[in-house]
Amino acid sequence: MANKRIFLSPPHMGGEELRYVKKAFESNYVAPAGPHLESLERAFSETVEIPYAVALSSGTAAMHIALRSLGVGPGDEVIASTMTFIGSVSPVTFFGGVPVFIDSDLTSWNMDPDLLANELEACKKRGKLPRAVIPTDLYGQCCDLDRIIDICEPYNIPVVVDAAEALGATYNDRSAGAGAKAAIFSFNGNKIITTSGGGILASEDKELIEYARKLSQQAREPFPHYEHKEIGYNYRMSNILAAIGLGQLKVLNDRVTKKRKIFDFYYNALKNVPGVEFMPEARYGRSNRWLTVILITPEEFGADRETVRLALESENIESRPVWKPMHMQPVFRAEIQGQKLLAKNGSINPYPARVVGGSVAEDLFFRGLCLPSGTAMTKGDLNRIVSVIIKCRKNKYARM
Ligand SMILES: Cc1ncc(COP(=O)(O)O)c(C=O)c1O
Repeated sequence: MANKRIFLSPPHMGGEELRYVKKAFESNYVAPAGPHLESLERAFSETVEIPYAVALSSGTAAMHIALRSLGVGPGDEVIASTMTFIGSVSPVTFFGGVPVFIDSDLTSWNMDPDLLANELEACKKRGKLPRAVIPTDLYGQCCDLDRIIDICEPYNIPVVVDAAEALGATYNDRSAGAGAKAAIFSFNGNKIITTSGGGILASEDKELIEYARKLSQQAREPFPHYEHKEIGYNYRMSNILAAIGLGQLKVLNDRVTKKRKIFDFYYNALKNVPGVEFMPEARYGRSNRWLTVILITPEEFGADRETVRLALESENIESRPVWKPMHMQPVFRAEIQGQKLLAKNGSINPYPARVVGGSVAEDLFFRGLCLPSGTAMTKGDLNRIVSVIIKCRKNKYARM
């Protein structure tokens, strides 16, 4: 019989979720509004200490509405991390905006603040500043937010943190995303806590969240009939999913503790293996270690990350390459001809985008592997995973 499948980061219910869902059914709030939704927004705000929040259908929807609320429009540039998931930046293109990607730094793998500072200076010289900056908190590690805000402030550019992966992480003792103009979070099924699908936009700016809430409900004006002065979206989270979220929020701290223990297990098992490195933890914060990520140097380890991934897969264990950087994605690939940024030859449906640097993120992509990090895993599961990885190295010597 095949071994039990180990998934990368599956949902892990805490036990109270069904009770909340049952309550929602009993009160017949099987609807895109209701008391659980309001409770979730309140409880979430208290947890992350960001005073206002609106619960939405996904993290991508939250980013879409955040950028719309900040007035991003056709031709506007928006700076983002190149090392991220596409949901972080696809909303820029929904408005006809142009993403500009910034490379990672080596200490956090997040947006390199020095490259950002250089790029903003260059933007100023060219006479066109970006409308927003979106740093991603990668794999649960916060970006260097205060530095990024300090760099953006003189230009009056708002920072929207993509904290989709970083709920429960801290930066200088603040929650991920706190202190920025706005932050988005995801409750996708693979995240540290989940509502099956969903997201939240949070901000200290009450007006921004009130406007976002209105946009998420078809931009309905406060009239008894349906009155619309502008176009909105149908992006509100349902009350049923919010009920799941209320149960999940209760176990967030436990999940962070367990994710960090999983990292420690892998670290202790593999730290002395030549050719294996771990995603560093920046000194300014505490990662939630949403996923444990390793770098494999083939010349030292004896196998490349794809060989290891396939070896794990053959044992029914899911792992995944690190995000392919956005500047390497066919949809964003571009070349400069004269003064113009054009889609690379042969691209279909192209959204040509600039990149600043890129070699650090490329290297992380080629060598990086995300290991199974589900919080319901047992010691036995972890031992199974580690033994497959170590066997890949032993095979090197077997071949010699
Ligand atoms: C970094 C990052 N940004 C944005 C998103 C988008 O979130 P969602 O899947 O809820 O739309 C995700 C996760 O899925 C993510 O990992």
